[in-house]
Amino acid sequence: MRILPGFITAITLASSAVLWAADVAADVAAETVNPEADRQAFVSFYKNRFPDIDIQAHKDGAYALDPAKRAQWQAMEDFPPYEIAVDEGRELFSVAFTNGKTYADCFARQGIGIKQEFPHFDMDQNTVVTLELAINQCRVANNEAELDYDSDEMGVITAYMAFTSRGNHFDIKVPAAGLAAYESGKQFYYERRGKLDFSCSGCHMQATGNMLRAEILSASVGHATHWPTYRFKWEKVGGLHKRFIECNEQVGAVALPQQSEAYRNLEYFLTYMSNGMELNGPASRK
Ligand code: HEC
Repeated sequence: MRILPGFITAITLASSAVLWAADVAADVAAETVNPEADRQAFVSFYKNRFPDIDIQAHKDGAYALDPAKRAQWQAMEDFPPYEIAVDEGRELFSVAFTNGKTYADCFARQGIGIKQEFPHFDMDQNTVVTLELAINQCRVANNEAELDYDSDEMGVITAYMAFTSRGNHFDIKVPAAGLAAYESGKQFYYERRGKLDFSCSGCHMQATGNMLRAEILSASVGHATHWPTYRFKWEKVGGLHKRFIECNEQVGAVALPQQSEAYRNLEYFLTYMSNGMELNGPASRK
């Protein structure tokens, strides 16, 4: 991928400043990890950066930042490309496993309208559980094979579950036992990586609102709200970790497998930063 050289310089400088800030933050955090203070600072950053944009609007990503692109996208949403996925997901969700049970038996409220509770820190497993992981754990508990995280089946089931959760708001909790996972996700977000030596924050905080080739860099405060997402580039719905892989690869960093511990921790941090934001998945993006 080619990025304008001037842009790289600007971002590299900006992300050094962020790295420094992150170092300071990490020192402070070593003594007191305070997710809620982090979230308030995170939200304030974007409010200051985009004083005319309501914070909730960032659930639409880059389309919150550019009226022309938003208009194009809204026209596209008149015939939502994820609609078939939601319908297929609704059907698959109710198909019984060979033991007669269904997905509904594994989840609170029969799995309807629960996405805002994911990811959460599971005390028994001592790890972050995302919706995708919980779906596979449900399958294994019912003697079914796990789904590939990139499969159409995983895509459509999560699309349906997200659809039933639309309009709910994230309320992610970080219990004392989950602080280390939260911290590791936070570190991943602020750490620079890859040949281009960029952090997530370098692009999505310092350079947010700027163009990168033909794309406007979105704000991370809305990054968790709308998954899975139908991307025209993918020609199907895919999860948040599929997007992490792409963002890692475009800076020349080694991407991790979907649902690896590091990505689940990153999702935990990023979703906590979206607490109070409205869920609007599935969505469509270019
Ligand atoms: C070199 C710049 C760059 C870096 C570094 C980068 N991204 Fe991105 N990211 C992009 C671009 C470009 C897009 C597509 C435009 C947009 O939506 O921001 C994007 C899109 C996204 C999206 C989808 C937004 C949406 O509305 O659907 C998420 C989520 C995301 N990035 C998360 C991350 C995370 C987490 C990291 C760190 C692991 C990261 N990005 C690092 C450039 C970057």
